[in-house]
Amino acid sequence: MKVNIIFSPNNVDDLYFTGKITVVIDVLRATSVILKAISVGAKEVIPVSSIDFAMKISVNSHGGQTLLCGERNTKIIDGFDLGNSPLEYTEETVNGKSVILFTTNGSKAIVKAKYSEKVFVASFNNLSKMAEYLVNLNKDVEIIASGSSGIFCLEDSICAGALVKKMLEHKPEIELTDASNASLVLNEKYGSDIFNMMNTCEHGVLLKENGFESDIEFCSTIDNLPIIPYFTGGEIKLLKQEEKTNNNV
Ligand code: MLT
Repeated sequence: MKVNIIFSPNNVDDLYFTGKITVVIDVLRATSVILKAISVGAKEVIPVSSIDFAMKISVNSHGGQTLLCGERNTKIIDGFDLGNSPLEYTEETVNGKSVILFTTNGSKAIVKAKYSEKVFVASFNNLSKMAEYLVNLNKDVEIIASGSSGIFCLEDSICAGALVKKMLEHKPEIELTDASNASLVLNEKYGSDIFNMMNTCEHGVLLKENGFESDIEFCSTIDNLPIIPYFTGGEIKLLKQEEKTNNNV
């Protein structure tokens, strides 16, 4: 079993993921938001790579069962129902609903991985659960650190390193690429105080400037949402117990 990290989705093209097991990370904030939405009962999250496409597919929604959600420059998009703060996603706002999500980096990274055999969504919020599942799956894994507009970012790379570290605790013989080794080193340096790292990294500073400091606390919480969302047929859904047992998603 081999684990690789891609430090920006722009480093590869869509076909790179064909037939692979892929995990997408965008801790600030898209994958943390997806985990929160699914954990409070969203029927599914539909990640999209453009605002136009989000609007187009929302036209088919009926009776408020579909929400248009996401951000541009960290803020809610005009005319959308929710922005990209995990704190907005509650049972009251999303339970039983389909969430169409556009974000600057994270939703695009998930769409980019669409040719994978399986795509999972991870953040600090489901780290241990994700590591355990991947180790049991026992196949090569590609982890996408979504980064920022095609550029490396610290928080996603450290989360990827933390995921690799947890996987190694279960299975020390996992083969690591240079990128995986690099992410482990980053996690070694910054991983003991995730909250501080998230407050001082570039995107954390930007979020604070825009009034989202509470999101940083939520997104740096480890293992508070022990679920596995997976992307299939254009929708992200909750992986259920029986599917986990059969490893058949
Ligand atoms: C993204 O996808 O780039 C982020 O989720 C941006 C944000 O923090 O809203």
